[in-house]
This record gives sequence, C-alpha cells and structure tokens, in this order.
Amino acid sequence: MHTKTYPMVYKADPNRYEKMLYNRCGRNGLKLPAISLGLWHNFGGADIFENGRKILHYAFDCGITHFDLANNYGPPPGSAEENFGKIISSDFRAYRDEIVISTKAGYYMWPGPYGDHGSRKYLISSLDQSLKRMKLDYVDIFYSHRPDPETPVEETMSALAQAVRQGKALYAGISNYNPEQTIRASEILQELGVPCLLHQPRYSMFDRWIEDGLLDVLEEKGIGCIPFSPLAQGLLSNRYLHGIPEGSRADKPHGFLKKEYITPDKIEKVKKLNKIAEKRGQSLAQMALAWILRDKRITSVLVGASSIEQLQDTHKMLENIIFTGLELEEIESVLQ
Ligand SMILES: NC(=O)c1ccc[n+]([C@@H]2O[C@H](COP(=O)([O-])OP(=O)(O)OC[C@H]3O[C@@H](n4cnc5c(N)ncnc54)[C@H](OP(=O)(O)O)[C@@H]3O)[C@@H](O)[C@H]2O)c1
Repeated sequence: MHTKTYPMVYKADPNRYEKMLYNRCGRNGLKLPAISLGLWHNFGGADIFENGRKILHYAFDCGITHFDLANNYGPPPGSAEENFGKIISSDFRAYRDEIVISTKAGYYMWPGPYGDHGSRKYLISSLDQSLKRMKLDYVDIFYSHRPDPETPVEETMSALAQAVRQGKALYAGISNYNPEQTIRASEILQELGVPCLLHQPRYSMFDRWIEDGLLDVLEEKGIGCIPFSPLAQGLLSNRYLHGIPEGSRADKPHGFLKKEYITPDKIEKVKKLNKIAEKRGQSLAQMALAWILRDKRITSVLVGASSIEQLQDTHKMLENIIFTGLELEEIESVLQ
C-alpha cells in the first residue's frame, strides 16, 4: 500500500533515477523511461484534480520522466492539458529540464475546416493552444496524431518541422501511421533535417498489428517506438476478472473502453494469462507490460493509471522483465 503523503510543496525523491531504466529512442539522442505515463483518461475536468496530481508526483518519484498528452484529452477536450499546466507550473517548475512532455494534434478539436486532421493551419494553431493551456514555452515532442488521407503528407511533416524550427517543439513524432505511411513520413522529415524521433502505435497482447512490418520499418529508420494502451485499456489486468467494477474505465460514460469489447472470449484469455502471470510471481498487468518490453525495438510502454496503487504495481514490473522460452510459448498458445 502506498503511504507517502505529499506536502503542498512537492520535492522529488532524490533516488528516483535509480528506480527506472532508460532506453534510447531508436538511433536518436533522447532516452525515455521504460514506463511513460499518459493523461488520456483520469486527468481531465471530469476527474478529481488532486488524484491526478498525486499520480504525477508518484510517477516522477519512480523515475517516470515522460508525460504524454494531446490537444483533445479530457473530457472536456483540452482540460487534461489545462490541469497538467497547473501542476507543472506549481509543482514541477524546478524539474522542467528533467521532464519530457509530448502533445499531439490530428483528431477533432474545434469546429470548421481548421480544427481537425493534418493541415499546417490546424497543427500549428493547435500547438500554440496546447502551449498556452500547459503554460509552457515548448513541448519536447509534437506528434501528428494520425495520418490524414486528404492533406499531402509533405504538408503535415513540414508543419512538424516548422514547430521544431520555431522552438515550439524539440522533436517530431508520428502516431497511428502504418508501415508505408511511416516510411514516407520519415523520409520527408529526414529531408527537412528534422528526423522522426518516435512512433506511437497501439500495441498489446490483444492487438499485435505492429509486429507485421511496422517494427521492422522503425528499426531500419532508427525511430523509437512507444506503444499506447499496452494493457488494452485495463483489460490485460485483474480489473475485469469478476465483471465490470464501479469507477473503472468501462463503467464510465466517457471511458473509451466499451463494454461490448469485454467479451467472454477475452475474459477467458485474461484468466489464462493471469495464471501464467501468477506462476511468474507477478500481476497480469506487470506481465503484459514486460511482454511488450521483451522486444528491444520498444523504447517505452505508455501506460495510463487511475490510482497511485496501479502505478505502483506497474512500476514493480521492472523487477521481472525476463521471460523463459517456455513462458513465451505458453502466452503465445493463449493468444492464438
Ligand atoms: N496516440 C494515440 O492515438 C493514443 C490513443 C490512446 C492512448 N494514447 C496514449 O496512451 C496512454 C495510455 O493509454 P491507456 O490509458 O489506454 O493505457 P493502458 O495502460 O492500456 O490502460 C490504462 C488503464 O488500465 C488500468 N490499469 C493501469 N494500471 C493497472 C494496474 N497495474 N493494474 C490494474 N489495472 C491497471 C486503469 O484502468 P481504470 O481507469 O479502469 O482503473 C488505467 O486507466 C494514454 O494516456 C495516452 O497518452 C495514445
């Protein structure tokens, strides 16, 4: 059980860097913690501010130096960045240079033709809004949140490069791009002198599309990989073993984990995986995250958390990230 109480003035744990592994992003200079924290859920205006604040303190105390946002995180959209801005300016001001903050634009944010997708107009004005909400001079990583079939990819990539040249972002990243789109985007960024730092795809035991070409492309291009929803939004944990608990993501009206996704077949698999995790002496969430990190092309797992206890469990995963061949075969036979 987590017991530390946080005073109003936050002081980071001096031992935090001994508690984390840091991996290089592909062949770039930047290193990221093996575990990064995303603020998609649990940090918006609909959530309890102090809970989010405590989770961020706890994360940084564990050596989690990377926090991931997007313009639309909330609800309401933008409120996760606003809350994060309050916490960064009040509690983390002294640590800004020790923290990697990312944001994105690509999904619907405001009405009219300039508040969605991948035009330069949208990306640059969205980043300006994000910086204001977070009270920051710059973000570390600015992503194109998704490919836009209508905007030339040259325009979207040159908007990312422009953000870097203007000093509004230090690095450029892409998210949800397929292997072919990734090759094209990274070649354009390379030509513009702003290499692609990182790709953010969905990846978990239940969603393995990146094994089918994307990871090879990232390795060849020297781009890092930070999978999102590595616990399939909480499904790959003990959370739903006995139904849908109150307050869980699947129980919330604004949660993106839809009840229909929690099928008897999935729960059957979760139960079998849970048994394998027990034999390894770890929680299913820990095993599901360690399983992702088994591939050296993965830079960091990008988790969410609704409590300090969850993040504490997740962090302990680092004590056992090695799998035997037999364990991997057992997991494979469940997932087939
Ligand atoms: N680029 C994109 O398009 C995109 C899309 C989605 C997400 N993302 C990024 O990825 C981040 C992570 O996504 P995600 O929140 O879906 O990740 P996730 O880690 O798969 O799911 C997080 C949820 O799992 C549960 N959980 C976490 N740790 C647990 C533990 N140790 N034991 C039991 N349950 C645990 C919690 O559910 P409860 O809330 O029910 O407690 C938590 O909210 C986002 O915050 C965002 O930054 C990016």
